[in-house]
Amino acid sequence: MTAPLVRLAAIRKRYGAVDALQGVDLDVGAGEVVAICGDNGAGKSSLIRVVSGAHAPDGGTIEIEGRAVRFGSPLDALKAGVATIYQDLALAPRQPIWQNIFIGAELTRSILLDKPRMREESRRYLARLRIGIADVDRAVDTLSGGQRQAVAIARALRWNARLVIMDEPTAALGVAESRQVLDLIRELHRAGTTVILISHNMAEVVEVATRVAILKGGRKVADRPAAGLSADSLAHLVMTGTLQ
Ligand SMILES: Nc1ncnc2c1ncn2[C@@H]1O[C@H](COP(=O)(O)OP(=O)(O)O)[C@@H](O)[C@H]1O
Ligand SMILES: [Mg+2]
Repeated sequence: MTAPLVRLAAIRKRYGAVDALQGVDLDVGAGEVVAICGDNGAGKSSLIRVVSGAHAPDGGTIEIEGRAVRFGSPLDALKAGVATIYQDLALAPRQPIWQNIFIGAELTRSILLDKPRMREESRRYLARLRIGIADVDRAVDTLSGGQRQAVAIARALRWNARLVIMDEPTAALGVAESRQVLDLIRELHRAGTTVILISHNMAEVVEVATRVAILKGGRKVADRPAAGLSADSLAHLVMTGTLQ
């Protein structure tokens, strides 16, 4: 048996008196699209902050392909191939697309920025996501919400992310743009990238996830393949922790 891409074991997180995570185990296999579901306050974002290096856990371990890791920062996680896309996307809206994709890790040739190569590679990453943006000099604030998600994902690909984590990526988007984000997730899956998706939208989850883990009050109460789940049965599982 090969080790899963990510193994979380007995993860605990406390904020003052709040026990946000009370010993959560989660394996994420390479190539899976794992949805994390649960009510507000269940601990979904806390779990993601631990995997993404934003917060250190108060207990438990993280392994990447069987090796224990300790992420001191999101940059540590990025270097290990774990990229997190937050709801605000952390893009610089007035800057061109290519610059956003290479932000913080620009390509250089001798001491100069290699702009032609960054433009070219930006086009390639976006093409990989099947997003037709011909002009990578466009400022991000001229793009639709779905296209902005694509830019944020392209930045993750630029770091050779093997795991892309998305926390409620469609929460602020309309129907058409949400569809575009689901298509992006499908493209990542097709290309073999592993995805963790947090979503309240049961219809979206059953559409794109291969597996569903459900948190309730800081504990995992269910973890099962998504195949065979309807949006209704998933909603019931989230509410009660059991199938109808
Ligand atoms: N920075 C924080 N400070 C204090 N309490 C927090 C903080 N972040 C989350 N919590 C609490 O931890 C619990 C889990 O929150 P969270 O992980 O955000 O849940 P979810 O993403 O599932 O809605 C909640 O009770 C929440 O109020
Ligand atoms: Mg949350």
